[in-house]
This record gives sequence, C-alpha cells and structure tokens, in this order.
Amino acid sequence: MTSKMKPNGSAKISIKDKTIELPVYSGTVGPDVVDISKFYKESDHFTLDPGFTSTASCESQITFIDGDKGTLLYRGYPIDELAENSNFIEVAYLLLQGELPNEEEYQQFNHNITYHTMVHEQFKTFFNGFRRDAHPMAIMCGAVGALSAFYHDSTDVTDQRQRVVATHRMIAKMPTIAAMAHKYTVGQPYIHPRNDLDYTENFMQMMFAVPAEKYEINPVLAKALDKIFILHMDHEQNASTSTVRLAGSSGANPFACIAAGIACLWGPAHGGANEAALRMLEEIGDVSNIPEYIKRAKDKSDPFRLMGFGHRVYKNYDPRAKVMREACHEVLDALDIRQEPTLKVAMELERIALEDEYFVEKRLCPNIDFYSGITLRALGFPTEMFTALFALARTVGWIAQWKEMYEDPAQKIGRPRQIYTGAAERRFIPRAKR
Ligand code: CMC
Repeated sequence: MTSKMKPNGSAKISIKDKTIELPVYSGTVGPDVVDISKFYKESDHFTLDPGFTSTASCESQITFIDGDKGTLLYRGYPIDELAENSNFIEVAYLLLQGELPNEEEYQQFNHNITYHTMVHEQFKTFFNGFRRDAHPMAIMCGAVGALSAFYHDSTDVTDQRQRVVATHRMIAKMPTIAAMAHKYTVGQPYIHPRNDLDYTENFMQMMFAVPAEKYEINPVLAKALDKIFILHMDHEQNASTSTVRLAGSSGANPFACIAAGIACLWGPAHGGANEAALRMLEEIGDVSNIPEYIKRAKDKSDPFRLMGFGHRVYKNYDPRAKVMREACHEVLDALDIRQEPTLKVAMELERIALEDEYFVEKRLCPNIDFYSGITLRALGFPTEMFTALFALARTVGWIAQWKEMYEDPAQKIGRPRQIYTGAAERRFIPRAKR
C-alpha cells in the first residue's frame, strides 16, 4: 500500500503445504482489502480475477461508491448535493485538488480554464481528414490524441508545471473539440469559445450557435446540462478510468492517455449505453410493446438486454439516475414537451421492470444512462454526440485519477498476469511439411 496506512489484520491462504499470511487494510469506508502484492513472490501462484470484480487496482482518495446503499461521493460530498448546489468548474477543482475552492481559488481556476478554451488555428486542419459522417467519438479519439502533437510544452510528465498546464488545456479544450466534431459532421462553421460565458453555456453556444443568428442561452437548460456534466465527472476505477491509469503508468503523455480513455468509453457497455438506451426506447415505441421487450431481456437465448439497466457496482438505485430523472423532467417542462413519447415509454418500462421478479432478484435498476438519452436529445444534442458529452465531463475525473496515479510514490507500470492455456512450447515445422 502506498499511504501511511498500517495493516489492521491479516488473511491466511493455504496453498499445498504452505500458509501465506497477507496484510489486510481498511479504507475510510468500503470493504477492507487483502494486499496480495507479495503473493506471487511467496507462493509462486498468481490470482485470477477477470473483469476485476474483486480486485482493487489502486489506492484512491477521489471518488467512493457504495453500490448497496446507492451512494456516490466525490471527495466525500454526495453527488446529489454537488449537482444541486455547485457547478462544473467548482466540482472540477474539488476532484483535482481534493477540497472545494474558496472564492479566490475558484476565480483563478475558472480563469485558467476559460483562457485555454481556444485551439490552435492549424488544429482545425485535422478535422478535414475525417469523413463528414464520422462518429464524433472517432473524431474525439483522434483529435484529443493529436493535442500532444500541438502542445509539446505540456507533454513532459516529469515536470509538475507541465502537468498542470496539460490539465487546464484538456478540461478547457474538450468542449471546443466536441463542438467542432459536431459542427464538422453537420457542415456548419466552427463557433469560437466566448469568455463571457460559463463552461457549460460556452459549450452550448459552440454546439448550437450559427453565425447568422444571435444565440440565446436558456438558463434552465444550461443548469440542467451542467448538472448532467457533474454526474458524469468521475466514477471510481471504471473501465475508461482504469484505461487512463494503465496508459499513464508507462509515462505516456496526458493527451495520449485521455485519448485512450475516450476509446474505452465509446463501447456500448460503458459510455455508449445512453445512445443504446435511447435507441431501445424508440424501438419499443409504445407502452403496449413493453412486455415483449421485458420477456426478451429475460430470455437467456436472446442477447437483448434492457439498456440503461443494471450496473457492475450499483445493486440499488444508481444515485446519478435519481438526479438525471429530475433533470429530465426539468428540461422537458422547460421546453413544454412533457408528452414526449420516449419519456412515457421510459417511465412505464422503469415501473414494470422495478416490480418484475427477474429484475428485483438480480437487483437490476435503472442506471444514469436510462434517462440521460431522453434529456440530451430534448436539449438538442444528436444521438451520436451523447458519448462525446460523457467524454467531455469524464475528462475531469480521468485527469484527477491520472494526476493521483502519477503523484503516487509507489506508482509502477501496470502489468497484469494471466493464466496461459495455449499450446506449450513446440518446434516450428516448415510450411511444406505441415
Ligand atoms: N438486462 C437484462 N438482464 C441483465 C441486464 C440487463 N440490462 N444487466 C444484467 N443482466 C443480467 C445478466 O444477464 C446476468 O444474468 P445471469 O446471472 O442469469 O447470468 C445478471 O443480470 C448479472 O449481469 P452481469 O452482466 O454479470 O453484470 P455485470 O456487472 O457484469 O454487468 C452491465 C453490468 C452494466 C454491463 C450490465 O448490467 C449491462 O449490460 N447493462 C446494460 C448496458 C448499460 O446500461 N450499461 C451502462 C452502465 S452505467 C454507465 C457507466 O457507469 O459507465
């Protein structure tokens, strides 16, 4: 273990005729951990845990989830309190620095982010290489990785100042790049960032403004989107965050690490689920079709799953889904589209699934993605942009986790083991003799 934690017990594992004693540590909250780092040395055995269902990959002080209670804390603060009372910049500061900022710290951090939102003019030429119908996540993977080809002065990870500058650059430029990916695919001119707007408002105007018209920000919608961003900012050692940490463990520059995180987030079992959930609700189309889809979700011979349901960690209601459900209603009310058919299907599907024996028994509840698709679409975002928005918000968590990993004195390159079940050593046979 890396901090000054002292073992508060031990676990014994007997293998063949040897008993190995392993230290046990307690975190602030959450299950105790058995430290198996010396296990191989002492036992000549590896441990096997595909999908890391029982394995803590690191020590962290950023985010905590209690999956049974359905709580999510950023640096100790419940997610719903932050979503209700704070804003993107303040929560970003909290995740990165560990404490909420005072007024002066807030203004300084806000300034640093605001004044890094523009991208190098030449950067725009990258976009021309993509097909117009490219998925925004494909563009994001490429464009964010390409930041390291522009900002050489912040790629030396051994330099603390460069790490800070890279952090500001990525948080600041992510909305600009995401909006550019959208504008490129719809064939509209890129809209420059505006320093008089806050982080989320600025993103909305870069997404939706066109030079021919004045763009008015609707404060209710901007607040709802800001909340959605806060909900997505960090989530412990999920697949994309672990990807960022693993990429960073080799000393790779932060822009490359975040590009790796974006690639991982793209998958439908992770960040792509909100897109998949909305498509599913549209496919269901009418509440009368719900029983058929519930039946399919329970059928083991059918690969169909209820998208937006279930979670590796939450075995109770996803606390983010509660806030997202409220945000969804706020947005639909503000736009006066409460009768939205997909919302009707969603609410009925949620009601039926929460009472269904199969879902109750397996503790499958709606996750954040169940309502986020409806909300984002009502806000005007095309479906292909949903995961890009997730990436924008999660960038803060990825960087906070990357920073924590990098600053950990015990950090070493991530290098999992395996159980090899392929062919044992054999001799090469020339092709003519095979
Ligand atoms: N619909 C129907 N059955 C399900 C579902 C679902 N959405 N999710 C899990 N199950 C069943 C699954 O078939 C399995 O049944 P059995 O025990 O009989 O084999 C049982 O529940 C446990 O599922 P699992 O796949 O072993 O659980 P997991 O922890 O590996 O998977 C999950 C978690 C999120 C990948 C999965 O629930 C899923 O595919 N959900 C739909 C996709 C989705 O909404 N993903 C977004 C996750 S939240 C976003 C984020 O935090 O990144």
